[in-house]
Amino acid sequence: MFGTDACMIAHPDAVQRVLLDDHEAFGKGEVLTRNLADAMGEGLFVSGGDQWENQRTQVQPAFYRKQLHTYVPEMQSTAAETVEQWRDGMVVDVNDTMTATTMDVLGRTLFGVDVRENPIVSEASDAILTRFDTSRFWSFLPDRLPTPTNRRYRRKLDKLQQFVDDLARQRRQQDPENRGDDLLSLLVGFVEAGDLTVDELRDNMVTFLFAGHETTALGLTYTLLCLAQHPDRQADLQAEVDAVCDGRVTAGDLPELERLEHAIDEALRLYPPVYMFFREAKRDVTLQGYDIPAGTTLVLPQWAVHRDPAWWDDPETFRPERFDGDAGRPEYAYFPFGGGPRHCIGMRFARMEMKTVLATLLDEYSFELVSDPDPDLIASTNLKPGGPIEIALDVR
Ligand code: HEM
Repeated sequence: MFGTDACMIAHPDAVQRVLLDDHEAFGKGEVLTRNLADAMGEGLFVSGGDQWENQRTQVQPAFYRKQLHTYVPEMQSTAAETVEQWRDGMVVDVNDTMTATTMDVLGRTLFGVDVRENPIVSEASDAILTRFDTSRFWSFLPDRLPTPTNRRYRRKLDKLQQFVDDLARQRRQQDPENRGDDLLSLLVGFVEAGDLTVDELRDNMVTFLFAGHETTALGLTYTLLCLAQHPDRQADLQAEVDAVCDGRVTAGDLPELERLEHAIDEALRLYPPVYMFFREAKRDVTLQGYDIPAGTTLVLPQWAVHRDPAWWDDPETFRPERFDGDAGRPEYAYFPFGGGPRHCIGMRFARMEMKTVLATLLDEYSFELVSDPDPDLIASTNLKPGGPIEIALDVR
């Protein structure tokens, strides 16, 4: 591919070796590092070696369960605002709706701002995703070519970086007691303690936006796509929500929403928002008996492994009970959030958000799929629907 040797790793044991057992033998790869350097080179997603390790240790507490619990009320009220705009019988494109909802959640929990008043956050997120939309040829053109996409990307990225710098500066002038709980305030605290540089703070804020927005919106969209085709499953989840939640979903309710958790797991199996990602071998290695020379690009395809009949019975069918108990399949037959030391730091955040939003929606409405049950999908940076996912709303 493009003058480099690449191979696809489709056996869970080999995926585990690359991500976990021998992870130090594999890097993120030069193409990714170079492409994302301007936007988030000093952030967690792109950095490597000691810098990555230090940062991961410093930033990790911001993603501990207790900290994340403080975000659940924002997640709940954002979802409730979405529901308030709905009416019985309406048909909505859930991808659009969930994209807006997750953007609102990120604006509030990352930056402590309302994105409707600060459109730069969502505009920059759009510009970054368009720039790196791997289903379009332009994503392979170098940044320095003045294409319209590159120019817009540059402009919006500059503005976003300025916005983050300004917000961080304002926070530092505030008394720590009154800064609020958003991720920006936590990272500002790390900068003051000398654990993070100002550049690392900025690049991590951009990283969370890039890594956390579209992925979570797609997770929600695909769970709704699956549920809208299975009224019996919806009824089952609604019974669970009624039994567990007393009107408004709280952080304490989330561990008890087990069937909802499994419905999300199963949707992420069938439609993993990150459908493949890459590593580069730093030295010669042997995987499953194949010799892989240093410099080879390895493709780790969730899409293929999650639908492999060797590990999954009737793999095309939505069946959440697969996730009840231990099914005896290899651990890395399922890796929607990656694995090993570089697994998604936002996994718990995303899971909490998806559960809170879905429980809030299911409490008020049932869903019926209007558009194609087998939608076209686009292999972009993430796995995106090719057209609207239209769902009719039926008030409970
Ligand atoms: C359903 C939603 C999500 C999915 C499917 C997802 C998936 C992934 C995957 C597969 C990786 C590993 C990439 C690799 O190893 O090359 C990753 C890494 C990462 N994700 Fe997520 N993610 C989601 C939500 C989030 C959220 C909400 C945030 C932040 C608020 C986030 C932040 C990150 C970061 C910073 C990394 C890099 C971690 C590191 O290298 O130390 N993600 N994600």
